Amino acid sequence: MPRISLRRLVKRFGRQLVISELSAEIEDGELFVVVGPTGCGKTTLLRLVAGLIKPDGGEILFNGERVNELPPSERGVRMVFQGHDYALLPHLPVYRARGWSNLSFPLRLRGRTWEAIRDRVGKVTARMGIRRELFPRRPGALSEGQKQRVAVGKALMLPPKVLLLDEPLAHLDPPARAKAREEVRRLHEELGATTVYVTHDLAEAFLLADRVAVMGEGRFVQVGTPREIKGRPANAFVREFVESYRQALRRAFSS
Ligand SMILES: Nc1ncnc2c1ncn2[C@@H]1O[C@H](COP(=O)(O)OP(=O)(O)OP(=O)(O)O)[C@@H](O)[C@H]1O
Ligand SMILES: [Mg+2]
Repeated sequence: MPRISLRRLVKRFGRQLVISELSAEIEDGELFVVVGPTGCGKTTLLRLVAGLIKPDGGEILFNGERVNELPPSERGVRMVFQGHDYALLPHLPVYRARGWSNLSFPLRLRGRTWEAIRDRVGKVTARMGIRRELFPRRPGALSEGQKQRVAVGKALMLPPKVLLLDEPLAHLDPPARAKAREEVRRLHEELGATTVYVTHDLAEAFLLADRVAVMGEGRFVQVGTPREIKGRPANAFVREFVESYRQALRRAFSS
């Protein structure tokens, strides 16, 4: 699985500098969680790593090889998108045997047999808690949380080398989210894919991550283990980010 090196990455949209000389090393097989305020550039960073957009400066390397010019299909990357369609195919059901469907699509494209696809769907849906009664439905007839699970399931149909998850659990209620988080962690350990996981939720970052990157505008302000970020915030931005979160939680549960 690739080690991902980001070297002084720059991305502009028009005159707005969205990624600003961002550098980091994401280790082979690491679960790397990026957390930061709305609009700081998290999704843009994932799109750069996936190859959906090109940087205006700097380099992206997989195992030391520059991939800036490599198209998304050749990077071994799977991305689960944030937002309402999650790159699900709206006209296809979640799953049907011997036919095109959202879950069978990635495997069928690569010529796998219907039997092999059925076995894989069985495993992935059990894992992600996608119940059979959802199989005939199209994405438009699923709740946001159900859509997100199907999107994560679809990304896992072919084990990826690099998995990019953009707030994949944002629409689940907290207890469902805690369960799904455990599944993500377990899946990550099984797949061994280098994973970049984006969230707004600092608690989620601390519970999931090998390392956390706290992102400010367009760059990582601090990268470290959850313990390091909590115990030794690098500067006022990180300290205030952690403290405001802690206080909000404390206030919510105080009488
Ligand atoms: N295609 C685009 N064209 C112009 N501006 C864009 C484009 N995509 C993103 N931006 C701008 O870049 C900035 C960063 O956006 P991005 O989606 O990466 O933020 P984010 O950290 O993922 O935010 P959120 O937490 O709300 O998802 C924002 O100001 C956004 O408006
Ligand atoms: Mg985003």
